[in-house]
Amino acid sequence: MSSEDLHVPREKLSKKTLHMHYAITSLIEELEAVDWYRQRADDTEDAELKAILLHNAHEEIEHASMALEWIRRNDTEFDEQLKEYLFTKGSITGREEEATK
Ligand SMILES: [Fe+2]
Repeated sequence: MSSEDLHVPREKLSKKTLHMHYAITSLIEELEAVDWYRQRADDTEDAELKAILLHNAHEEIEHASMALEWIRRNDTEFDEQLKEYLFTKGSITGREEEATK
């Protein structure tokens, strides 16, 4: 997915929706990169290449975290949900049951 994969004409989108689209597609791309680097690291027998690929995966995790934080700061619903579920302990689905009571 690239930022050109809009589902409606660009001129119909608000600046806020367009910016959120950029952030969401960036987050997707960063998470895909983490997955791809880790798979390639698992599949190589070359120790130095493995180290580089894992280093790159670590950097993509940082990038993904930054994109997610931008989304949280700019979308009240993400902010509420992330505050509900992130950095918690215990059952995640149990937390939903508690939150919807
Ligand atoms: Fe990245």
